[in-house]
Amino acid sequence: MVYILGTDHAGIILGDFVKNYLISNGFEVIDYSPKQAHKVDYPDFAQKVCKEVLKTGDAKGVLICGTGIGMSIAANRYKGIRAALCLDAYMAKMARLHNDANILCLAERISGLGEVESIMEAFIHTEFEGGRHACRVSKIEDFDS
Ligand code: RB5
Repeated sequence: MVYILGTDHAGIILGDFVKNYLISNGFEVIDYSPKQAHKVDYPDFAQKVCKEVLKTGDAKGVLICGTGIGMSIAANRYKGIRAALCLDAYMAKMARLHNDANILCLAERISGLGEVESIMEAFIHTEFEGGRHACRVSKIEDFDS
């Protein structure tokens, strides 16, 4: 499984942590984060990650900004992207189980590293439940505009 990672300047430190966590758990990571902490615009990185996730079939993404809000708003403009801003492990588990989230959004300015580790663990180990939830997710995918 490949994870596509992107941050803005307010997510670089947490992005490094997440990248190392994913690699040490056996995942390949493609990293679109900026390499220096100069100010950038989060939609540019959301766009890169969303396009790559949509192109790569079963890949998932992680987007990180200060609050996770801008990244989640931007990512959810893409049809086929289901981006979930998760502040705890329960949200991450349910985002996979019920919403089939394919992008996890994280908040560097809010979430501590221990919390993020629990969030990551829940996100990567939970499969979509399908059934009635598949019907609901496909209703969203059927939205035209
Ligand atoms: C950058 O200052 C900040 O606005 C951005 O990282 C994010 O939190 C936006 O939603």
